[in-house]
Amino acid sequence: MLELKNVNTYYGNIQALRDVSLTVRDGEIATLIGANGAGKSTTLMTICGINRPASGEILWNGQPVSGMAPHEIVRLGISQAPEGRLIFPDLSVMENLELGAFPRKDKAAVKKDLDYVFSLFPILAQLIRQT
Ligand SMILES: Nc1ncnc2c1ncn2[C@@H]1O[C@H](COP(=O)(O)OP(=O)(O)OP(=O)(O)O)[C@@H](O)[C@H]1O
Ligand SMILES: [Mg+2]
Repeated sequence: MLELKNVNTYYGNIQALRDVSLTVRDGEIATLIGANGAGKSTTLMTICGINRPASGEILWNGQPVSGMAPHEIVRLGISQAPEGRLIFPDLSVMENLELGAFPRKDKAAVKKDLDYVFSLFPILAQLIRQT
């Protein structure tokens, strides 16, 4: 479960998030909707530790994550799939796929997930060495 409690985030003097509170329970899909500049991206970046909240709490399964480094937050299981199909153009298709599993130690399960991805998108298996 992910909880935000009265989160406030600033860019310098500009307050981008004002007392944002939300709860996403296990198994739920939540959608953040708002006008341009409403603070959707800032909310995600604050959850992921890229932006630091000035005040408020972010809890993952009851444990505070605000103040943790982004790479530590990723290891807890909180990650973003970048919009606009952003990938690393200098890396191969395989390397881009492997990056998604970077923090995982369960290599056999990673291999299984890769096979599942290749079953969804068979063309990828033919292009693994291509950038
Ligand atoms: N790097 C930044 N420096 C200063 N202000 C910023 C910065 N990024 C965003 N803002 C401001 O913070 C507010 C929230 O922006 P944010 O990008 O989170 O909105 P958004 O809901 O994701 O918008 P969009 O629908 O355009 O993606 C806006 O007022 C925006 O101008
Ligand atoms: Mg945005």
